[in-house]
Amino acid sequence: GTTLKASAAEKGRYFGAAVATGKLSDSQYVGILNREFNSVVAENEMKWDATEPQQGRFNYTGGDRLVSHARANGMSVRGHALLWHAQQPGWAQGLSGATLRNAAINHVTQVAAHFRGQIHSWDVVNEAFADGGSGGRRDSNLQRTGNDWIEAAFRAARAADPGAKLCYNDYNTDGVNAKSTGIYNMVRDFKARGVPIDCVGFQSHLGTSIPGDYQANLQRFADLGVDVQITELDVMTGSNQANIYATVTRACLAVSRCNGITVWGVRDSDSWRGTDDALLFDRSGNKKPAYTSVLNAL
Ligand code: XIL
Repeated sequence: GTTLKASAAEKGRYFGAAVATGKLSDSQYVGILNREFNSVVAENEMKWDATEPQQGRFNYTGGDRLVSHARANGMSVRGHALLWHAQQPGWAQGLSGATLRNAAINHVTQVAAHFRGQIHSWDVVNEAFADGGSGGRRDSNLQRTGNDWIEAAFRAARAADPGAKLCYNDYNTDGVNAKSTGIYNMVRDFKARGVPIDCVGFQSHLGTSIPGDYQANLQRFADLGVDVQITELDVMTGSNQANIYATVTRACLAVSRCNGITVWGVRDSDSWRGTDDALLFDRSGNKKPAYTSVLNAL
């Protein structure tokens, strides 16, 4: 193929980008998005603070706009993210215990039900594991409601939107390490006990190197009976950027249960990583060597 989406589709994969809906009026941005990508995810607009700014008052303006752009252009939609320790509305940050648990599960139910039938995969829970060597859960207000909060969220999401794949999503899981192994053990336990989980998202915010066991790590999760997805890919600029992008692309293609790749933005100027220039298109919208490297690897 001559575009990311066409080449990925030939391999049975999607190729997606994170979108800021405010930029859908930027013709250069939309031109690249519609030409190259067949999956989108909201960079911020489906997060808790955006969708439930006041308790019980839901705002789907940005999310609906993205879903409608996707439908009009034949794109699938990743939902991101139902529960996370960050970007919570102030009212939720002030809750704890059973009150917070009930509010969180209600949030999952309401948001997943609103978008029912329109979401390919939901990040039901984002970034719940600790960095470092513990392999354990991250401390958060949600974790302090009880260790079963993650499975409760997955069960609520399944009930609200039975057609969406339900993912656990995290970063610093780019090889076999204590954090990825902690998640691996949780997924294995969920599969053994029938907790509804369908996929694991590997954010893949990468620096100037990539672990040699990146593909093997994806494969060990797939071998548990879940799909895997590259969900927020971006790579530090430099002499390794194009190679690292190609390595990630080849790893996904080599793992039959890897559904697709999402990059976390369109142009370098759209990236949350600022001067890292971590994306596939430069600040003028031109294709970078990293773009060609991905296209050739697909
Ligand atoms: C980032 C967005 O790109 C920024 O615009 C926002 O200010 C902060 O969040 N992991 C995630 C994403 O799961 O939601 C984050 O997105 C990047 C890190």
